[in-house]
Amino acid sequence: MNNIKTSVDICGVVMKNPVTTASGTFGSGREFSDFVDLNKLGAVTVKGVASEPWKGNDSPRIAEVYGGMLNSVGLQNPGAEYFIENDIPFLRQFDTRIIVNICGHSIEEYCRAAERLSEADIDLFELNISCPNVSEGGITFGTVPSMAEKVVSEVKKYCKKPLIVKLTPNVTDITEIAKAAVSGGADALSLINTLLGMKIDIKRRKPVLANKVGGFSGPAIKPVAVRMVYQVSKVVNVPVIGMGGIADYEDAIEFIMAGAAAVAVGTANFMNPFATVEIVDGIEKFMRENDIYDISDIRGIID
Ligand SMILES: Cc1cc2nc3c(=O)[nH]c(=O)nc-3n(C[C@H](O)[C@H](O)[C@H](O)COP(=O)(O)O)c2cc1C
Repeated sequence: MNNIKTSVDICGVVMKNPVTTASGTFGSGREFSDFVDLNKLGAVTVKGVASEPWKGNDSPRIAEVYGGMLNSVGLQNPGAEYFIENDIPFLRQFDTRIIVNICGHSIEEYCRAAERLSEADIDLFELNISCPNVSEGGITFGTVPSMAEKVVSEVKKYCKKPLIVKLTPNVTDITEIAKAAVSGGADALSLINTLLGMKIDIKRRKPVLANKVGGFSGPAIKPVAVRMVYQVSKVVNVPVIGMGGIADYEDAIEFIMAGAAAVAVGTANFMNPFATVEIVDGIEKFMRENDIYDISDIRGIID
């Protein structure tokens, strides 16, 4: 089969293939550009950007665990101004879409980031609603449907580009949050963010992370992520970007069959910096070998 169609349309933005990077695991792309030809990726999703610089959490903030890792980086970032001046011009040299992940501690902070970044040359927003809402005692925005809907609807007013809302898996029923985000105005959804985890150093009798708890990511979380992408895809009619433990093209195809329009590669980048391009090539090979003309022909084929 010669002519295959790998491109996907995410709310009017065409990605040449369904593969992007998971926010926070690929920097702004620059860090990986010695290994990865960024022109080969459907999109680069950058690390979380806030309206002002964030310092992040104390170290240690990374720990290896069975099947993945824990991180409590705390969304350290140099802020929107720095990002606009330095990272966007770098990424625009490449033929790839730019997805900007935004974070905030309050609705106002999220809105300020969205407003400022709307003036910049980007393709899509991804709203990370796994941040604590300081005005609600630190409850994570994305764990309460009404809070999720409110932050999405407010941020949406400032977004001049389509808005992907990124869901946290640390909830009882992810479909309730997904529906709330869509009713707030999400143009697409992405999932999953990290699962809350903890590791204890039994000799020191202390948590390994200075923050005590952190986000669990990597191959071990994949079955949870596939299940959630499957459940969410069945109840919303916006594109879903699937992620969580994707390390090779077979993982990516699994997510697409579960209902994902596109996929993001996260922790795998740390183990294998070539993972993203290998997955792009692997998907193409799989399509040719299995007579799949259009990648969307296998999207959501699981009943
Ligand atoms: C070190 C690290 C930093 C991350 N930073 C962000 C971030 O800034 N914003 C965000 O929405 N998700 C962030 N994530 C979550 C990932 O984008 C992704 O949703 C999660 O790790 C699951 O995918 P994976 O198992 O392929 O890594 C981060 C994950 C890791 C491991």
